[in-house]
Amino acid sequence: MPSQNQHPVTLIPGEGIGPEIADAVVRIFESAEAPVSWERVELSSAAAVEGEPLLPEAVIESVRKNGTALKGPLATPIGKGHGSLNLALRKTFQLYANVRPTRNVAGLESRFKNVDLVVVRENTEGEYSGLEHEVAPGVVESIKVITRTASERIARYAFEYAATANRRKVSAVHKANIMKKSDGLFLQCCREAAEKYSHIEYDELIVDNCCMQLVLDPCRFDVMVLPNLYGDIVSDLCAGLVGGLGLAPSGNIGESIALFESVHGTAPDIAGQGKANPAALLFSACMMLRHLGETDLGDRIERACYDVLAEGRCLTADLGGKVGTREFSDAVIEKLQP
Ligand code: NAI
Repeated sequence: MPSQNQHPVTLIPGEGIGPEIADAVVRIFESAEAPVSWERVELSSAAAVEGEPLLPEAVIESVRKNGTALKGPLATPIGKGHGSLNLALRKTFQLYANVRPTRNVAGLESRFKNVDLVVVRENTEGEYSGLEHEVAPGVVESIKVITRTASERIARYAFEYAATANRRKVSAVHKANIMKKSDGLFLQCCREAAEKYSHIEYDELIVDNCCMQLVLDPCRFDVMVLPNLYGDIVSDLCAGLVGGLGLAPSGNIGESIALFESVHGTAPDIAGQGKANPAALLFSACMMLRHLGETDLGDRIERACYDVLAEGRCLTADLGGKVGTREFSDAVIEKLQP
Protein backbone atom coordinates (compact mmCIF):
# COMPACT_ATOMS: atom_id res chain seq x y z
CA MET A 1 0.00 0.00 0.00
CA PRO A 2 1.31 3.48 -0.80
CA SER A 3 2.05 5.71 2.17
CA GLN A 4 -0.09 8.82 2.50
CA ASN A 5 2.13 11.04 0.41
CA GLN A 6 2.91 8.41 -2.23
CA HIS A 7 1.39 8.96 -5.67
CA PRO A 8 -0.04 5.81 -7.27
CA VAL A 9 0.87 5.71 -10.96
CA THR A 10 0.03 3.15 -13.63
CA LEU A 11 3.14 2.12 -15.55
CA ILE A 12 2.56 0.79 -19.06
CA PRO A 13 6.05 -0.23 -20.25
CA GLY A 14 4.82 -0.72 -23.85
CA GLU A 15 6.65 -2.52 -26.64
CA GLY A 16 10.02 -2.56 -28.39
CA ILE A 17 12.42 -0.42 -26.35
CA GLY A 18 9.52 0.51 -24.00
CA PRO A 19 10.32 -1.96 -21.19
CA GLU A 20 14.05 -1.00 -21.26
CA ILE A 21 13.44 2.73 -20.95
CA ALA A 22 10.61 2.21 -18.42
CA ASP A 23 12.98 0.20 -16.21
CA ALA A 24 15.55 3.00 -16.47
CA VAL A 25 12.97 5.57 -15.28
CA VAL A 26 11.92 3.34 -12.38
CA ARG A 27 15.56 2.95 -11.30
CA ILE A 28 16.24 6.70 -11.51
CA PHE A 29 13.04 7.47 -9.56
CA GLU A 30 14.07 4.97 -6.88
CA SER A 31 17.47 6.59 -6.49
CA ALA A 32 15.80 10.03 -6.20
CA GLU A 33 13.38 8.60 -3.63
CA ALA A 34 10.48 9.84 -5.73
CA PRO A 35 7.18 9.36 -3.85
CA VAL A 36 5.62 7.26 -6.60
CA SER A 37 4.22 3.74 -6.28
CA TRP A 38 4.05 2.07 -9.66
CA GLU A 39 1.29 -0.30 -10.73
CA ARG A 40 2.65 -2.12 -13.76
CA VAL A 41 0.14 -3.27 -16.40
CA GLU A 42 0.79 -4.81 -19.80
CA LEU A 43 -0.56 -3.40 -23.05
CA SER A 44 0.72 -4.31 -26.49
CA SER A 45 -0.20 -4.27 -30.11
CA ALA A 46 0.99 -7.89 -30.34
CA ALA A 47 -1.75 -8.96 -27.91
CA ALA A 48 -4.51 -6.98 -29.70
CA VAL A 49 -7.15 -9.03 -31.52
CA GLU A 50 -9.05 -7.42 -34.39
CA GLY A 51 -12.74 -6.99 -33.60
CA GLU A 52 -12.22 -7.20 -29.82
CA PRO A 53 -11.86 -4.25 -27.43
CA LEU A 54 -8.36 -2.80 -27.86
CA LEU A 55 -7.78 -2.00 -24.21
CA PRO A 56 -7.76 -4.85 -21.66
CA GLU A 57 -10.02 -4.27 -18.65
CA ALA A 58 -6.99 -4.41 -16.30
CA VAL A 59 -5.44 -1.39 -18.08
CA ILE A 60 -8.67 0.63 -18.00
CA GLU A 61 -9.26 -0.18 -14.34
CA SER A 62 -5.73 0.68 -13.25
CA VAL A 63 -5.60 4.01 -15.11
CA ARG A 64 -9.06 5.03 -13.85
CA LYS A 65 -8.16 4.12 -10.27
CA ASN A 66 -4.75 5.86 -10.21
CA GLY A 67 -5.62 8.85 -12.42
CA THR A 68 -2.01 9.13 -13.63
CA ALA A 69 -0.06 6.94 -16.03
CA LEU A 70 3.40 6.76 -17.60
CA LYS A 71 3.50 4.90 -20.89
CA GLY A 72 6.22 3.51 -23.15
CA PRO A 73 5.68 3.37 -26.92
CA LEU A 74 3.15 1.06 -28.57
CA ALA A 75 3.26 -0.20 -32.17
CA THR A 76 0.47 0.57 -34.67
CA PRO A 77 -0.02 -1.41 -37.89
CA ILE A 78 -0.04 0.91 -40.94
CA GLY A 79 -2.98 0.95 -43.38
CA LYS A 80 -4.53 -2.29 -42.02
CA GLY A 81 -5.05 -4.36 -38.86
CA HIS A 82 -6.31 -3.13 -35.51
CA GLY A 83 -6.69 0.54 -34.61
CA SER A 84 -4.15 2.58 -32.67
CA LEU A 85 -3.83 1.71 -28.98
CA ASN A 86 -2.58 5.25 -28.37
CA LEU A 87 -5.76 6.72 -29.90
CA ALA A 88 -7.85 4.25 -27.89
CA LEU A 89 -6.19 5.43 -24.66
CA ARG A 90 -6.74 9.10 -25.54
CA LYS A 91 -10.39 8.51 -26.47
CA THR A 92 -11.25 6.20 -23.56
CA PHE A 93 -9.89 8.59 -20.95
CA GLN A 94 -10.84 11.80 -22.82
CA LEU A 95 -7.25 13.03 -22.75
CA TYR A 96 -8.14 16.21 -24.58
CA ALA A 97 -4.88 18.15 -24.39
CA ASN A 98 -1.61 16.90 -25.84
CA VAL A 99 1.18 19.02 -24.41
CA ARG A 100 4.65 18.94 -25.96
CA PRO A 101 7.38 21.22 -24.60
CA THR A 102 10.31 21.83 -26.97
CA ARG A 103 13.56 23.39 -25.88
CA ASN A 104 17.25 23.29 -26.71
CA VAL A 105 19.47 20.95 -24.78
CA ALA A 106 22.75 22.63 -23.86
CA GLY A 107 25.71 20.87 -25.43
CA LEU A 108 23.72 19.15 -28.17
CA GLU A 109 24.04 20.52 -31.65
CA SER A 110 20.88 21.85 -33.24
CA ARG A 111 19.94 24.35 -35.90
CA PHE A 112 18.64 26.95 -33.45
CA LYS A 113 19.56 28.17 -29.98
CA ASN A 114 17.18 29.50 -27.30
CA VAL A 115 14.12 27.62 -28.49
CA ASP A 116 11.66 27.22 -25.62
CA LEU A 117 8.10 26.65 -26.75
CA VAL A 118 5.13 24.46 -25.89
CA VAL A 119 2.67 22.96 -28.35
CA VAL A 120 -0.84 22.40 -26.96
CA ARG A 121 -2.75 20.18 -29.39
CA GLU A 122 -6.46 19.33 -29.28
CA ASN A 123 -6.36 15.56 -28.92
CA THR A 124 -9.90 14.22 -29.41
CA GLU A 125 -11.50 15.44 -32.64
CA GLY A 126 -10.72 17.32 -35.88
CA GLU A 127 -9.56 15.01 -38.68
CA TYR A 128 -8.88 12.25 -36.14
CA SER A 129 -12.54 11.57 -35.44
CA GLY A 130 -12.25 8.28 -37.34
CA LEU A 131 -15.24 9.13 -39.58
CA GLU A 132 -14.18 7.93 -43.03
CA HIS A 133 -16.22 6.19 -45.69
CA GLU A 134 -16.18 5.41 -49.38
CA VAL A 135 -19.03 7.34 -51.00
CA ALA A 136 -18.54 5.66 -54.37
CA PRO A 137 -15.68 3.62 -55.82
CA GLY A 138 -12.64 5.87 -55.88
CA VAL A 139 -14.25 8.58 -53.73
CA VAL A 140 -13.57 8.68 -49.99
CA GLU A 141 -14.94 11.19 -47.51
CA SER A 142 -13.20 11.93 -44.23
CA ILE A 143 -15.15 14.08 -41.81
CA LYS A 144 -13.44 16.76 -39.73
CA VAL A 145 -15.34 17.49 -36.53
CA ILE A 146 -14.80 20.70 -34.58
CA THR A 147 -17.05 21.34 -31.59
CA ARG A 148 -17.43 24.40 -29.40
CA THR A 149 -17.07 22.23 -26.27
CA ALA A 150 -13.70 20.75 -27.28
CA SER A 151 -12.39 24.03 -28.73
CA GLU A 152 -13.31 26.03 -25.61
CA ARG A 153 -11.74 23.34 -23.43
CA ILE A 154 -8.40 23.31 -25.29
CA ALA A 155 -8.25 27.12 -25.58
CA ARG A 156 -8.88 27.47 -21.85
CA TYR A 157 -6.25 24.80 -21.13
CA ALA A 158 -3.62 26.62 -23.24
CA PHE A 159 -4.20 29.95 -21.47
CA GLU A 160 -4.34 28.34 -18.03
CA TYR A 161 -1.09 26.49 -18.81
CA ALA A 162 0.53 29.76 -19.94
CA ALA A 163 -0.65 31.56 -16.81
CA THR A 164 0.56 28.82 -14.44
CA ALA A 165 3.92 28.34 -16.18
CA ASN A 166 4.58 32.11 -16.34
CA ARG A 167 4.56 32.13 -20.12
CA ARG A 168 4.11 35.42 -21.94
CA LYS A 169 2.16 34.57 -25.09
CA VAL A 170 -0.34 32.16 -26.66
CA SER A 171 -0.52 31.79 -30.44
CA ALA A 172 -3.60 30.22 -32.01
CA VAL A 173 -2.81 28.32 -35.24
CA HIS A 174 -5.59 27.69 -37.77
CA LYS A 175 -6.71 27.62 -41.40
CA ALA A 176 -9.88 29.61 -40.92
CA ASN A 177 -9.31 31.50 -44.17
CA ILE A 178 -10.26 28.27 -46.01
CA MET A 179 -12.12 26.20 -43.39
CA LYS A 180 -14.21 29.14 -42.33
CA LYS A 181 -16.76 27.26 -40.25
CA SER A 182 -14.67 24.54 -38.54
CA ASP A 183 -11.40 26.39 -37.94
CA GLY A 184 -13.46 29.56 -37.65
CA LEU A 185 -15.19 28.09 -34.58
CA PHE A 186 -11.86 26.95 -33.12
CA LEU A 187 -10.45 30.45 -33.60
CA GLN A 188 -13.52 32.12 -32.11
CA CYS A 189 -13.09 30.00 -28.96
CA CYS A 190 -9.40 30.99 -28.73
CA ARG A 191 -10.37 34.68 -29.02
CA GLU A 192 -12.94 34.32 -26.26
CA ALA A 193 -10.38 32.64 -23.98
CA ALA A 194 -7.82 35.37 -24.79
CA GLU A 195 -10.24 38.03 -23.55
CA LYS A 196 -10.40 36.30 -20.17
CA TYR A 197 -6.58 36.19 -19.87
CA SER A 198 -5.84 39.76 -20.90
CA HIS A 199 -2.42 39.73 -19.13
CA ILE A 200 -1.22 37.11 -21.63
CA GLU A 201 -0.29 38.27 -25.12
CA TYR A 202 -2.31 36.63 -27.90
CA ASP A 203 -1.77 36.32 -31.63
CA GLU A 204 -3.03 34.18 -34.52
CA LEU A 205 -1.24 32.51 -37.40
CA ILE A 206 -2.45 30.55 -40.40
CA VAL A 207 -0.87 27.11 -40.17
CA ASP A 208 1.22 27.32 -43.37
CA ASN A 209 2.65 30.70 -42.39
CA CYS A 210 3.23 29.31 -38.88
CA CYS A 211 5.43 26.51 -40.31
CA MET A 212 7.49 29.03 -42.26
CA GLN A 213 7.87 31.32 -39.22
CA LEU A 214 8.91 28.34 -37.09
CA VAL A 215 11.78 27.37 -39.37
CA LEU A 216 12.87 31.01 -39.77
CA ASP A 217 12.69 32.14 -36.15
CA PRO A 218 11.33 29.62 -33.60
CA CYS A 219 12.34 31.86 -30.69
CA ARG A 220 9.38 34.17 -31.36
CA PHE A 221 7.01 31.39 -30.25
CA ASP A 222 5.94 30.60 -26.71
CA VAL A 223 2.72 28.58 -26.15
CA MET A 224 0.88 27.47 -29.30
CA VAL A 225 -2.65 26.07 -29.42
CA LEU A 226 -3.77 24.04 -32.43
CA PRO A 227 -6.53 21.73 -33.65
CA ASN A 228 -5.60 18.03 -33.76
CA LEU A 229 -4.02 17.47 -37.20
CA TYR A 230 -2.05 20.73 -37.32
CA GLY A 231 -0.88 20.07 -33.76
CA ASP A 232 0.34 16.59 -34.70
CA ILE A 233 2.37 17.88 -37.63
CA VAL A 234 3.64 21.12 -36.10
CA SER A 235 4.78 19.41 -32.87
CA ASP A 236 7.06 17.06 -34.84
CA LEU A 237 8.36 20.03 -36.81
CA CYS A 238 9.17 21.72 -33.49
CA ALA A 239 11.03 18.64 -32.23
CA GLY A 240 13.12 18.80 -35.41
CA LEU A 241 14.12 22.38 -34.62
CA VAL A 242 16.01 21.23 -31.53
CA GLY A 243 17.51 17.97 -32.76
CA GLY A 244 14.70 15.45 -33.34
CA LEU A 245 12.20 13.28 -31.53
CA GLY A 246 14.75 11.44 -29.40
CA LEU A 247 14.48 13.78 -26.42
CA ALA A 248 10.87 14.90 -26.79
CA PRO A 249 8.45 14.37 -23.86
CA SER A 250 4.67 14.75 -23.85
CA GLY A 251 1.63 14.74 -21.62
CA ASN A 252 -1.94 13.78 -22.55
CA ILE A 253 -4.19 15.58 -20.12
CA GLY A 254 -7.87 15.04 -19.33
CA GLU A 255 -10.25 16.35 -16.68
CA SER A 256 -9.32 13.69 -14.13
CA ILE A 257 -6.72 11.50 -15.85
CA ALA A 258 -3.28 12.32 -17.25
CA LEU A 259 -1.00 10.05 -19.25
CA PHE A 260 2.62 10.91 -19.98
CA GLU A 261 4.73 9.38 -22.75
CA SER A 262 7.81 9.92 -24.87
CA VAL A 263 7.09 11.10 -28.39
CA HIS A 264 9.27 8.52 -30.16
CA GLY A 265 8.08 5.03 -31.14
CA THR A 266 9.08 1.46 -30.29
CA ALA A 267 12.41 1.65 -32.19
CA PRO A 268 12.22 -1.98 -33.38
CA ASP A 269 15.70 -1.70 -34.94
CA ILE A 270 17.39 -1.44 -31.53
CA ALA A 271 14.83 -3.11 -29.22
CA GLY A 272 16.23 -5.59 -26.70
CA GLN A 273 19.83 -4.47 -27.22
CA GLY A 274 20.20 -2.13 -24.23
CA LYS A 275 20.99 0.79 -26.56
CA ALA A 276 17.86 2.93 -26.18
CA ASN A 277 18.01 6.49 -24.90
CA PRO A 278 15.68 6.75 -21.87
CA ALA A 279 15.83 10.60 -21.72
CA ALA A 280 12.50 11.31 -23.49
CA LEU A 281 10.57 8.99 -21.18
CA LEU A 282 12.44 10.39 -18.19
CA PHE A 283 11.54 13.98 -19.23
CA SER A 284 7.91 12.81 -19.62
CA ALA A 285 8.09 11.35 -16.11
CA CYS A 286 9.39 14.73 -14.85
CA MET A 287 6.37 16.43 -16.47
CA MET A 288 4.28 13.87 -14.59
CA LEU A 289 5.92 14.75 -11.27
CA ARG A 290 5.10 18.43 -11.82
CA HIS A 291 1.53 17.48 -12.69
CA LEU A 292 1.39 15.63 -9.35
CA GLY A 293 2.60 18.74 -7.53
CA GLU A 294 6.17 17.41 -7.08
CA THR A 295 7.64 20.35 -8.99
CA ASP A 296 10.99 20.58 -7.20
CA LEU A 297 11.69 16.89 -7.63
CA GLY A 298 10.65 16.99 -11.30
CA ASP A 299 13.00 19.93 -11.87
CA ARG A 300 15.83 18.18 -9.98
CA ILE A 301 15.67 14.95 -11.98
CA GLU A 302 15.29 16.88 -15.24
CA ARG A 303 18.35 19.00 -14.37
CA ALA A 304 20.41 15.88 -13.64
CA CYS A 305 19.51 14.48 -17.06
CA TYR A 306 20.23 17.81 -18.81
CA ASP A 307 23.61 17.92 -17.04
CA VAL A 308 24.56 14.47 -18.33
CA LEU A 309 23.49 15.45 -21.85
CA ALA A 310 25.34 18.78 -21.68
CA GLU A 311 28.60 17.16 -20.54
CA GLY A 312 28.49 14.96 -23.63
CA ARG A 313 30.69 12.22 -22.14
CA CYS A 314 27.93 9.72 -21.58
CA LEU A 315 25.60 9.75 -24.57
CA THR A 316 23.61 6.97 -26.23
CA ALA A 317 24.18 6.10 -29.91
CA ASP A 318 21.22 8.17 -31.20
CA LEU A 319 23.07 11.26 -29.90
CA GLY A 320 26.42 10.19 -31.32
CA GLY A 321 27.71 8.51 -28.17
CA LYS A 322 28.68 4.97 -27.25
CA VAL A 323 26.99 4.13 -23.95
CA GLY A 324 23.85 2.03 -23.43
CA THR A 325 20.63 2.62 -21.50
CA ARG A 326 22.10 1.36 -18.22
CA GLU A 327 25.27 3.51 -18.30
CA PHE A 328 23.26 6.60 -19.22
CA SER A 329 20.85 5.98 -16.33
CA ASP A 330 23.82 5.41 -13.97
CA ALA A 331 25.23 8.79 -14.99
CA VAL A 332 21.89 10.49 -14.20
CA ILE A 333 21.74 8.65 -10.86
CA GLU A 334 25.25 9.84 -10.02
CA LYS A 335 24.23 13.45 -10.72
CA LEU A 336 21.29 13.05 -8.36
CA GLN A 337 23.52 12.21 -5.42
CA PRO A 338 23.85 15.07 -2.93
P1 NAI B 1 10.60 5.24 -33.93
O1 NAI B 1 10.54 6.51 -33.14
O2 NAI B 1 10.29 4.00 -33.20
O3 NAI B 1 12.07 5.07 -34.55
C1 NAI B 1 12.65 6.00 -35.45
C2 NAI B 1 14.20 5.94 -35.31
O4 NAI B 1 14.57 6.58 -34.08
C3 NAI B 1 14.76 4.52 -35.24
O5 NAI B 1 16.00 4.49 -35.90
C4 NAI B 1 14.96 4.28 -33.75
O6 NAI B 1 16.00 3.39 -33.44
C5 NAI B 1 15.28 5.69 -33.24
N1 NAI B 1 14.83 5.89 -31.86
C6 NAI B 1 13.56 6.16 -31.43
N2 NAI B 1 13.52 6.28 -30.12
C7 NAI B 1 14.77 6.09 -29.67
C8 NAI B 1 15.36 6.08 -28.37
N3 NAI B 1 14.66 6.32 -27.25
N4 NAI B 1 16.69 5.82 -28.26
C9 NAI B 1 17.42 5.61 -29.37
N5 NAI B 1 16.93 5.60 -30.62
C10 NAI B 1 15.61 5.84 -30.77
O7 NAI B 1 9.63 5.45 -35.17
P2 NAI B 1 9.06 4.38 -36.22
O8 NAI B 1 10.13 3.43 -36.63
O9 NAI B 1 8.38 5.21 -37.24
O10 NAI B 1 7.93 3.59 -35.44
C11 NAI B 1 8.08 2.29 -34.89
C12 NAI B 1 6.77 1.91 -34.22
O11 NAI B 1 6.50 2.79 -33.14
C13 NAI B 1 5.54 1.95 -35.14
O12 NAI B 1 4.75 0.82 -34.91
C14 NAI B 1 4.81 3.20 -34.70
O13 NAI B 1 3.41 3.10 -34.90
C15 NAI B 1 5.14 3.23 -33.22
N6 NAI B 1 5.04 4.58 -32.62
C16 NAI B 1 4.48 4.67 -31.37
C17 NAI B 1 4.39 5.88 -30.74
C18 NAI B 1 3.78 5.94 -29.37
O14 NAI B 1 3.49 4.91 -28.79
N7 NAI B 1 3.57 7.12 -28.80
C19 NAI B 1 4.88 7.12 -31.35
C20 NAI B 1 5.52 6.91 -32.64
C21 NAI B 1 5.57 5.68 -33.25
